Amino acid sequence: MEYEGAPIGNISVVRLNERSEYAELGYCMGYAFWNKGLMPEAAKAVIDYLFAEIGVNRVGISHAVKNPASGRVAQKCGLTFEGTKREYFKTSTGEFLDISYYGIIRSEWEKTK
Ligand SMILES: CC(C)(COP(=O)(O)OP(=O)(O)OC[C@H]1O[C@@H](n2cnc3c(N)ncnc32)[C@H](O)[C@@H]1OP(=O)(O)O)[C@@H](O)C(=O)NCCC(=O)NCCS
Repeated sequence: MEYEGAPIGNISVVRLNERSEYAELGYCMGYAFWNKGLMPEAAKAVIDYLFAEIGVNRVGISHAVKNPASGRVAQKCGLTFEGTKREYFKTSTGEFLDISYYGIIRSEWEKTK
């Protein structure tokens, strides 16, 4: 297969607050691979790793409201919608974006295990 062995996307810890034991994830994936359930599967594995191996108390995901698929991935990973900050992020082209927040805390994650 043409893509075998090649990266098709990434997941990063974009924010880590050691004092509050909190990590925030960001992700993106090549268009050819969208809507196959790949990102929820991969993000769930990273969330498990952060709780089980790193020992965080909370994992968050935020996304631009205009990228609803990203919020759907957060929901499919068991995160709860926590609200939207209006015009919270200014892009390099000067557009102000509304940003939605999702989170899962350790006690919720433990119940899924
Ligand atoms: C977000 C992203 C990683 C999703 O990964 P994925 O592996 O395709 O995720 P899924 O296979 O679960 O499919 C996306 C889900 O979003 C839903 N979705 C897609 N477009 C949508 C839209 N416009 N409105 C609402 N839901 C939408 C799909 O129906 C699917 O949900 P379902 O399984 O309940 O039907 C991928 O779309 C992406 O890289 N997007 C561009 C980058 C991006 O937005 N990054 C986040 C920055 S904030």
